Amino acid sequence: MSNVVVIGSQWGDEGKGKVVDWLASRADVVVRFQGGHNAGHTLVVNGTSYKLSLLPSGVVRGTPSVIGNGVVIDPWALSREIGVLSGQGVTVTPDVLMIADNCALILPLHGHLDRAREEAAGKGKIGTTGRGIGPAYEDKVARRAIRVCDLADPDSLDMKIDRLLTHHNALLKGLGAKTLDAASIRAELEEIAPHILPYARPVWRELAAYRKMGKRILFEGAQGALLDVDHGTYPFVTSSNTLAGQAAVGSGMGPGGIGYVLGITKAYTTRVGEGPFPTELFDDKGERLGVRGHEFGTVTGRKRRCGWFDAVLVRQSVKLGGIDGIALTKLDVLDGFDTLKVCVAYRLDGKEIDYFPSSMSEQARVEPVFEEMEGWTQSTEGARSFAELPATAVKYVRRIEELIEAPVALLSTSPERDDTILMHDPFED
Ligand code: GDP
Ligand code: IMO
Ligand code: MG
Repeated sequence: MSNVVVIGSQWGDEGKGKVVDWLASRADVVVRFQGGHNAGHTLVVNGTSYKLSLLPSGVVRGTPSVIGNGVVIDPWALSREIGVLSGQGVTVTPDVLMIADNCALILPLHGHLDRAREEAAGKGKIGTTGRGIGPAYEDKVARRAIRVCDLADPDSLDMKIDRLLTHHNALLKGLGAKTLDAASIRAELEEIAPHILPYARPVWRELAAYRKMGKRILFEGAQGALLDVDHGTYPFVTSSNTLAGQAAVGSGMGPGGIGYVLGITKAYTTRVGEGPFPTELFDDKGERLGVRGHEFGTVTGRKRRCGWFDAVLVRQSVKLGGIDGIALTKLDVLDGFDTLKVCVAYRLDGKEIDYFPSSMSEQARVEPVFEEMEGWTQSTEGARSFAELPATAVKYVRRIEELIEAPVALLSTSPERDDTILMHDPFED
């Protein structure tokens, strides 16, 4: 019996929320360990859709849920999210939700800076979610962040806000923008503090206790391996490490607590925002994937770019992320295509290569080498056993396993919680 870490193996939106919600029935606690409210995880239970950004997907089932220290928290966004969920009948109390008291906060100034930079960058923009994620992580690493525990220590707030504004006001002055006032930031923080503090505690202690009791811990990653700040398509990435190793650091647990790494993998490829995408489709097939897969961002509503499955990229994520097995999602979206293409290698300056290079210019130049596969006309939507799948769909799944060098542990065939096929239980590995 082991813990399970769920990570995205592509550019996010692979269906992590659905899979985490499904697995949460087998887990004792669910833990987010990086990212912030740039994440948008949708799960559907008996036709009702729940959209989560900061809250771990375990809360919908009432499974104890933890926001670990690696997450950057916008307390206003969190408070709104708790409100929306309670309107849907999901109560989030300090019995269910625990927040690491050493999480760095996202303040309104981070969102403003994120959006102002994107606007100023014009064509060179990253295409961020505009939620202030990058600026908040920058302040954390620069040791000037305000953290959750600081909300409980009003006497020290002035000094911390001054330190933060020494940096930010210099930046704003340089840009010819209005500078910020410490007193109003303090007032905002004092106003939001009582909404957050009841959940705050040293969660590493609780997690250590769970481990000691042999309980099952399910880690919920946000974004995906190709958005990882070190290993992704830099600079078109997010500002955190999204790979499984981060689960240990971002929750306050040793690497031995990680267990089975489940890479959530869409049966085709999507990406939101700018950056390289070798298998992107610009024709009616790409349009069809987007329409059938409802590929619109949960957070920003932006249309997701769509393309064929890229086995080179996912194989790279398997190696980088230590992925033991994958959950293959959205297979049903491929129903009805006569033929399907899978990228099996790249051509770079006339030479074939079997990996995605690090350099931005090389990433932009690689051309996909495709293998064509026969599609299927029957519907796989809602299939709940492998035997229900048409032979060519089975062939597609098997070929993906071979190319990415990892087995399929779970298969998802619709947004609904129970339209899921278990091939191999990650908790029993
Ligand atoms: P996440 O960010 O990885 O949690 O993924 P998102 O929730 O942003 O995007 C995945 C979308 O696909 C959501 O709207 C899910 O409800 C939906 N989804 C998940 N699994 C499946 C599936 O197997 N089939 C279909 N058609 N939709 C799915
Ligand atoms: P989930 O958890 C898809 C992308 C943004 C942008 C880049 C940087 O739902 O899979 P940021 O705001 O993080 O600085 O933006 O990362 N991005 C995501 N794309 N799914 C996500 O999360 C994403 N979170 C960030 O579109 O390209
Ligand atoms: Mg998402």
